[in-house]
Amino acid sequence: MYQRSIDDPAGFWSEIAETFYWKQKWSPEEWFKGGKTNICHNAVDRYVEAGDGAKIAMYWEGNEPDQDGKLTYSELLDKVCQLANYLKSVGVEKGDAVVIYLPMLMELPIAMLACARIGAVHSVVFAGFSADAIAQRITDCKPKVVITCNAVKRGQKLIPLKDIVDASLVESAKNGVTVGICLTYENQLAMKKEDTQWIAGRDVWWQDVVPNFPTRCDVEWVDAEDPLFLLYTSGSTGKPKGVLHTTGGYMVYAATTFKHAFDYKPTDIYWCTADCGWITGHSYVTYGPLLNGATVLVYEGAPNYPDPGRCWDIVDKYGVTIFYTAPTLIRSLMRDGSVYVDRYSRKSLRVLGSVGEPINPTAWRWFYNVVGDSRCPISDTWWQTETGGFMITPLPGAWPQKPGSATFPFFGVQPVIVDEKGREMTGECSGYLCIKNSWPGAFRTLYGDKDRYETTYFKPFSGYYFSGDGCRRDKDGYHWLTGRVDDVINVSGHRIGTAEVESALVSHPKCAEAAVVGIDHEVKGQGIYAFVTLVDGVPYSDDLRKSLIMAVRSQIGAFAAPDKIHWAPGLPKTRSGKIMRRILRKIASRQLDELGDTSTLADPGVVDQLISLSDS
Ligand code: WT7
Repeated sequence: MYQRSIDDPAGFWSEIAETFYWKQKWSPEEWFKGGKTNICHNAVDRYVEAGDGAKIAMYWEGNEPDQDGKLTYSELLDKVCQLANYLKSVGVEKGDAVVIYLPMLMELPIAMLACARIGAVHSVVFAGFSADAIAQRITDCKPKVVITCNAVKRGQKLIPLKDIVDASLVESAKNGVTVGICLTYENQLAMKKEDTQWIAGRDVWWQDVVPNFPTRCDVEWVDAEDPLFLLYTSGSTGKPKGVLHTTGGYMVYAATTFKHAFDYKPTDIYWCTADCGWITGHSYVTYGPLLNGATVLVYEGAPNYPDPGRCWDIVDKYGVTIFYTAPTLIRSLMRDGSVYVDRYSRKSLRVLGSVGEPINPTAWRWFYNVVGDSRCPISDTWWQTETGGFMITPLPGAWPQKPGSATFPFFGVQPVIVDEKGREMTGECSGYLCIKNSWPGAFRTLYGDKDRYETTYFKPFSGYYFSGDGCRRDKDGYHWLTGRVDDVINVSGHRIGTAEVESALVSHPKCAEAAVVGIDHEVKGQGIYAFVTLVDGVPYSDDLRKSLIMAVRSQIGAFAAPDKIHWAPGLPKTRSGKIMRRILRKIASRQLDELGDTSTLADPGVVDQLISLSDS
């Protein structure tokens, strides 16, 4: 199949695409161009119409072990239609943006599908982002409606989501973007209506309006190349990138990768621990599984609440067969000990998956031996927000696994490893990971910034898509991802731009300059290490350290908070003023004998100063 997908991509993908419903077929010259379809129809209506309406589409497990719910495909269709009708009634039309800021309630995938149904472009903002971060995104995509809920409980902690949205709407209004409607789901398990701050005229309770709308709503047939969603992700500047995915290719790709990389069978119960606020939740909580008619588990809470056995409790409760998660969670559960795993049967498990960062062989073996009882193959899926779906991944059982390797490319994908001059290397090699040729799930642009799209991805190595990752290929042709080679840090599988953290730090009135690097972190993969130069005369203090960290939490979100603030009277710069991060990385990781040549620095003395302040 792989050979055919490379020799005849049009034929290969067309055959697969024909198993979906198209209102109008694509032109024979170019896949999917000119085709008309609707992803919501293919993910939901198609199964109801085929007589599978009584199949469970979603199980929902709440924060507390006794909270749960479920929806059949028919019920899901009803809920999606009601919300779609409501959105239409308030003037949301094809092409309009809708921002969604929700926790992992079933209403989150419902909201995504409702937008897709009417051709609106959803932009889900992960519910861990701060008000400033939401405002930045709202200012960029100018949504007609924001969908949120009043609050959520994660573990013991209550998070007032609506208050955060309120603050973001004040902020975006200052930037000239006013959102007319804030549709708010009342999450009764977390907060009562009466306790929720309310702005009459703008705020609308979901439960007051949505259930009154009809459970039938015609789909909007959209062009294969019409936008489906915008998802913001970090890059190497302070401004997040609006990754734009379109409909036809993304639909076919998300569905096909899901099916093969997890060896999907109609009897599976599938659980992906990712949040829909990230691409993994788009392609492998919502679209990929539902397009296959799968039963998906949506989990609202924290994976270690009330104790580190919660995941396996859930696996047994629902009979989960495919479990897809991130190395950071595996490492943290491994640290808590196998006793929490051994308490549960986990007999239902059949296939395991990993995503977000390279999985270290130790964590891989624990996942394989302890969680999967040495019985379940692991799909270590390498891909990105931009790629829409898996790019390098095992197919379970198809070839021998190597712990820590994402193995081989998916159908239609041609990865190449190039040297710094952009020359393709063959055989055993190590370098920059690029992709030759296109694939159906590829993003189409960065919203409103075609230039950045071209410079970031296509300029570095002429003729290729550049992933931003380093990669090694071994003598057997297996791929070993080695991490980002650009100014992006991967913290617990979350992409954070060093420039974003730096700009948050520098916005603090007492901070003159900041430089951020990633350091190895036992659980998170990478941690955030910030060198901070204060305004002249400001003394160092722990309170100041805390308030600098607060600046990052409030401008980006708690997940981007620096692990360490290192006072820096000066930063190592070249004579042209460029910060030498290579040196900072070595100081941060205490590899002081590997500092390399510091003679080209404008002021080599700063290095000794920094080292002497390491423990302060
Ligand atoms: C970056 C993309 C794609 C879903 C989650 C993150 C790293 C992702 C793997 C893996 C090694 C991986 C890469 C990539 N990454 N999966 N299996 N092995 N590295 O999406 O936020 O777009 O980040 O995550 O560095 O470039 P994202």
